[in-house]
Amino acid sequence: MSTDKVKIGIIGGSGLSNPEILKNGYEVSVDTPYGKPSDALICGEIEGVACVLLSRHGRGHKINPTNVNYRANLWALHQVGCTHLLVTTACGSLQPDMHPADIVVIDQFIDRTQKRQQTFFDGEPTSPPGICHLPMAEPFCPRTRKILYNCAKELSISCHEKGTMLTIEGPRFSSRAESKLWNSWGAHCINMTTVPEVILAKELGLCYAALALVTDYDSWKDDEEAVNVENVMKTFQTNAANATAVILRAIPQIVKEDWAATIEENKKFVKMNTLLPHS
Ligand code: ADE
Repeated sequence: MSTDKVKIGIIGGSGLSNPEILKNGYEVSVDTPYGKPSDALICGEIEGVACVLLSRHGRGHKINPTNVNYRANLWALHQVGCTHLLVTTACGSLQPDMHPADIVVIDQFIDRTQKRQQTFFDGEPTSPPGICHLPMAEPFCPRTRKILYNCAKELSISCHEKGTMLTIEGPRFSSRAESKLWNSWGAHCINMTTVPEVILAKELGLCYAALALVTDYDSWKDDEEAVNVENVMKTFQTNAANATAVILRAIPQIVKEDWAATIEENKKFVKMNTLLPHS
């Protein structure tokens, strides 16, 4: 596949949406049937590949995880032609073998959110027709995940090949009792944004993969300081460069591969699982 068929969206989490990684960057303000995204899209090139940057919480971190308009963010990136989404997210560790500064190329999620729209197929006249019951056995794009993991390894970054992200509603962190429960469930890490972002990306047929950057031990671990904003931001800022390095290395590798069949399959999958109105 030639580079002009692949366009890579990058959604930066808390502290990672640095527009300087793009060449020839320019801003595009878009509107969608679901409202406005968190910020203007910043379009440009990385290693000669068309890329689009979006700050999940808006530049200056103005939008809390519940109020992020995930549908508008994902629709906007799809509307400008993105085929792939590489996202970063800060997260807490829920297991003893995951440590602050590690990266997890998550492959599963557990949904503990309560107040979010999880589908574009909402019956509104401006939405796609039908009801989509999207299978979620494999939420993330395995091909894109593999490239991210290999790039992290090549860079000698401490990286886990897979992991289950538990997404809470927030904005508060978990109580100690909750955190111990998530740990007993076998979830590996915890954040506030993977759901519904990955679900909506799948509804649009996008190849979506996430680099979860561990910033803290949440509050299950009795011998560690419980999560707070200071330890999250400090660890994230110190280690965000690792996530950026993985993304910069992955982009040329993604473009080298042929994605036509995968993108076609993704679209077919959504179609197959959408019930259209009939009389
Ligand atoms: N983001 C970073 N650390 C987190 C935690 N412990 N819980 C939820 N979201 C987080």
